[in-house]
Order: sequence, then structure tokens, then C-alpha cells
Amino acid sequence: MNNEEMIRRELLQSARKARENAYAPYSGFRVGAAIRLAGSGEIIAGCNVENVSYGATICAERTAILRAIARAGPDRVRGSVEDLVVVTDADPPAVPCALCLQVLQEFCTPHLRIHLADLERIHRTLTLGELLPYPFSSFKG
Ligand code: THU
Repeated sequence: MNNEEMIRRELLQSARKARENAYAPYSGFRVGAAIRLAGSGEIIAGCNVENVSYGATICAERTAILRAIARAGPDRVRGSVEDLVVVTDADPPAVPCALCLQVLQEFCTPHLRIHLADLERIHRTLTLGELLPYPFSSFKG
């Protein structure tokens, strides 16, 4: 197994573990996500946390990237996330929602690899640029 494969495997494991902590009493849909910071190699995971208001629900992907910011700071996170794994039990595996893609694009390059997985394995890999080709990126004209 090469280094890239080992990283993806570790991310998948970490996302799966975080998914076990999902708080999803309303939808019953549990999501886990994990990212890795290049350099330190730290892996940071997230799960979805729902709210009775529904609208205040936070997705697993945003939990992971926001945890990374809180831990390492925006400067270390910016551009250093190369891989994100998202785990659900959906078939076909779920794609991050548009809100999460918009938050990811604030800190990641369009080359970010987004691996869509179920509990067993990664089924598909797409880049952030493919999933969000025209992000909102400036309000200054
Ligand atoms: N969810 C995520 O965690 N990530 C996504 O990209 C899509 C949706 C969560 C939000 C909510 O708790 C549940 O899945 C159903 O939408």
C-alpha cells in the first residue's frame, strides 16, 4: 500500500469513528468526515450535529473544517487540506451539501480531493473544483 492509500485508509477510519458520534435524532442520517493537514499530518474528524430547529444543524464536513481552524488557525489550514473523506451508509455515497462546499472553498484549493465513502470503502473521488466550479468568492466586484 502506498502513502496516499494509507492516508485515505486512515481518513476513512477516522471519519467512520466520528460518524458513531453523530447526533441525528431527526433525520436518522449519520455522517462522518475527516480531513488531514499536510505538514503535521494531523487528522481532524467531524460528525453531523442536528438541532430541533433543523436550520441550526451542522454537517459533518463543516464540523471537521471548523475544528481544524480552531485547532491550527486559518493560516495553517488554508491550502493545506488535500483530502476529505465523507462517510455515510447511503447508496450511492453522499456528496457534501452546497453550504459545506462553500465553507470548504474558503480554506481549500479547487484541487481538494473529496472521497465519497460508505462504511466499507471509498467509492468515488471528485475535486472541490468539480463539485463547486463557480464558488462565491468576492463581494468587492
Ligand atoms: N449532512 C451532512 O452532515 N453532510 C452533508 O453534506 C449533507 C447532510 C447531514 C445534515 C443532517 O444532519 C443530515 O445529514 C440529513 O440532511
